[in-house]
Amino acid sequence: MTRIGVPEVLEKKERGEKIVMLTAYDFPSARIAEEAGVDMVLVGDSLGMVVLGYDSTIPVTLDDMLHHTKAVVRGTARAMVVSDLPFMTYQASVEDAIRNAGRLMQEGGCQAVKLEGGVHMAETVRRLVQAGMPVVGHIGLTPQSINQLGGYKVQGRTQAAAERLLEDAVALQQAGAFAIVLETIPAPLGELISKRLRIPTIGIGAGAGCDGQVQVWHDLLSYSTTFVPKHMPRHVKQYTNVGEEMRKAIEAYAAEVRAGTFPTTKESFQMPREVLEDLTRTR
Ligand code: KIV
Repeated sequence: MTRIGVPEVLEKKERGEKIVMLTAYDFPSARIAEEAGVDMVLVGDSLGMVVLGYDSTIPVTLDDMLHHTKAVVRGTARAMVVSDLPFMTYQASVEDAIRNAGRLMQEGGCQAVKLEGGVHMAETVRRLVQAGMPVVGHIGLTPQSINQLGGYKVQGRTQAAAERLLEDAVALQQAGAFAIVLETIPAPLGELISKRLRIPTIGIGAGAGCDGQVQVWHDLLSYSTTFVPKHMPRHVKQYTNVGEEMRKAIEAYAAEVRAGTFPTTKESFQMPREVLEDLTRTR
């Protein structure tokens, strides 16, 4: 089976076909996304929050990303795997970016990398692409800059901020990015940017006018602890509630263990009666 590559992603935009991207962080989630026909699987640094329990993506390391990327690559055969360059693995220098993106692709096995930032990251993107590494840009709400943004707020609401985002998008396209994630910006701006670009936009909280959509695995499936849904962003549609189903199943298991009703003979292994008789006779 051949994987979806950069040309196929670009063709989807040309044909007006929506691109489906979803995050995944381990083998089973990647396999399920693949089986469900997702086009692009993102090993997002959101794993820091939804898998590792940090309160932002800042603490995520390249080793964390490599560990999860390898599992996701093993779980997919057709979907393109995009892996996030985590905080401080590409901001300090282009050389850092090339070395670390190279590790994600060579050791992790992903087919593309994603990084946050617009105009100021254009040179880095250009050099990565020159080195043969496909790059997805990410602008709007960029979680690695959360301390600068002052919270998970909608970006690009003023004319100046919207114009800056447009410039960022164009700069990333010119630098050679093959797609751009637009996160938490007004829907009309998402549509405007998408219409201006040759390359596809993939929105998360950026409206239906984007060329594709991405969501975080745990948000979409409500795979979370009881306190997380209170902080669920407006753009999330919870298609099911696996967290609740899991809690119910584990409560039932705990209750049966405590009551001595699990395991039953159905879940137990037997042995030849003579062996047992011999054992009880000699002990
Ligand atoms: O890390 C992530 O999951 C992301 C998506 C929110 C786009 O960057």
